[in-house]
Amino acid sequence: MSSTQHGPRVIVALDYASAAEALVFAQRLDPARCRVKVGKELFTVAGPALVEQLVGRGFDLFLDLKYHDIPNTVASACKSAAGLGAWMINVHASGGRTMMQAAREALAGLVRPPKLIAVTVLTSLGAEDLRETGQNEAPEVLVERLARLAAASGMDGVVCSAQEAPRLRAACGPDFCLVTPGIRLADAAQDDQKRIVTPQAAIAGGADYLVVGRPITRAADPLAVLDRINADIAAALA
Ligand code: C5P
Repeated sequence: MSSTQHGPRVIVALDYASAAEALVFAQRLDPARCRVKVGKELFTVAGPALVEQLVGRGFDLFLDLKYHDIPNTVASACKSAAGLGAWMINVHASGGRTMMQAAREALAGLVRPPKLIAVTVLTSLGAEDLRETGQNEAPEVLVERLARLAAASGMDGVVCSAQEAPRLRAACGPDFCLVTPGIRLADAAQDDQKRIVTPQAAIAGGADYLVVGRPITRAADPLAVLDRINADIAAALA
């Protein structure tokens, strides 16, 4: 667990196909009890206006657009994302050191810069997929290599599976921010997540923020599920 994190640890993934659906759902959430994430699907249809509306409602917002391009383009995109009021943004670590450093420099001088996070290896990629792209290291070795590169390039942290969190916490130190999706309550459906971890186990393993989508967005009583996850987190932190 990083020593520098405060506030709600749960980031609710607003994986909706329209601004209207996302806003109706967000109405049921409380910015004091969670943060929110807008990804490529929702941003592609709803754009900056939705981001600004959610930020205007008081939410800390993770703009999950996973930038990966030439350094100048990524730097400009990061600056634009910061201008929308995002609390957290991300880039692909495989874009390389120069790209990540350019992203970091683009945020220098901002009064409240967003947390700048790197994606190491998408959890949808297995060893064979990586081999086909010319990457012959075991996935967990590549993840650690990219996390170390991200840290050395000035990133605030990485997105990783909760199973990788202990290894990356050890590799990258106590202040490196670990953001983990694939969270499920012990008695919940797995959906399409293969390697799931409970909130308590994720926090115990060193995660700072937990990205949770369907267990909350598809719940009959989303706030009740959120409260239960927050209670589990509080127990793990105690
Ligand atoms: O609904 P669920 O809890 O599975 O949602 C998880 C969220 O985290 C989704 O927005 C998904 O895109 C994101 N994510 C993930 N696995 C990764 C990276 C991001 O599930 N490796």
